[in-house]
Amino acid sequence: MKDRPRRLRTNAAMRALTRETHLHPRDLVLPVFVREGAGGALPIRSMPGVVQHTLDTLPDVVATVEAAGLGGIMLFGVPEHRDATGSGATDPDGILNRAIAVAVTASTGNTVVMADLCLDEFTDHGHCGVLTSDGGVDNDSTLVRYEEMAIAQARAGAAVVGLSGMMDGQVRAVRAALDDAGFTDTAILAYSAKYASAFYGPFRDAVESTLDGDRRTYQMDYANRVEGSREADLDVLEGADIVMVKPAMSYLDVLADVADRVDVPVAAYQVSGEYAMIEAAAAHGWINRNAAIMESVHSIRRAGATIIFTYWALEVATWLKDNG
Ligand code: PBG
Repeated sequence: MKDRPRRLRTNAAMRALTRETHLHPRDLVLPVFVREGAGGALPIRSMPGVVQHTLDTLPDVVATVEAAGLGGIMLFGVPEHRDATGSGATDPDGILNRAIAVAVTASTGNTVVMADLCLDEFTDHGHCGVLTSDGGVDNDSTLVRYEEMAIAQARAGAAVVGLSGMMDGQVRAVRAALDDAGFTDTAILAYSAKYASAFYGPFRDAVESTLDGDRRTYQMDYANRVEGSREADLDVLEGADIVMVKPAMSYLDVLADVADRVDVPVAAYQVSGEYAMIEAAAAHGWINRNAAIMESVHSIRRAGATIIFTYWALEVATWLKDNG
């Protein structure tokens, strides 16, 4: 026998030497929920271990993220009041814009402060855009709200705005608006291939979503693969600096396609349901929690993501350091 692939698996040193995929804390981004009001961190029912922070607890989170050497932090706002057009999203005193300013002030510049750019946390109907009179999501009038939101976030100090609303033309519209307002250095992370997914369930608890229905007229059909590449291509043409595939684990084929195709950094978002599944199985003693987390995060990297959004970012960073 000439070929014995097992030679390279003989011991840990040999396996480490021949490993194809490596992760670094810098590749990881921690999503963080910030709730309006005081009272400190609150647990999220379906995401054990993840909390809603408040403006008071946010500076400590930023310090922890920087100490862990993470690449970035992605902020989500949980407002007290919501209305039809999501006015809290563009109010400089709105919770997300205030959170951005607090995080930027707390940061020493060693991590990238990013903000989710979408209306769903701010609208009373829970959709990612404004509605037409018959209840549909109005693409083009939503773009105007995204433009205003991008400027508010850039003004608050966000280095990256994460467009997660899946409106057509959103990257082009926001790029032009940022440039016109003088924010030429604010980067756009486009959630390009964002699927309508059951795996967002726990996130909707985390942001106290009011959505009644689904997002299938704007988020993608999970049965589609080619369309993921099309969405990524369009976003790169429109000016995206980074493109993202979301969720991650059920869409590694789409992620691999996109990574092969584009010349910008590719991110993937290991979403709330992916988190909850592993945590729940581990809590029952049905799965080795830490091993499952490391395997899942490495598989996302292996498929082609150079940036990974994960609720386990801090823990994974610690393990990566421990393993040298
Ligand atoms: C939209 C947004 C969602 C997530 C990130 N940005 C929710 C949705 O589209 O329904 C989900 C993230 C997760 O599930 O962890 N603002």
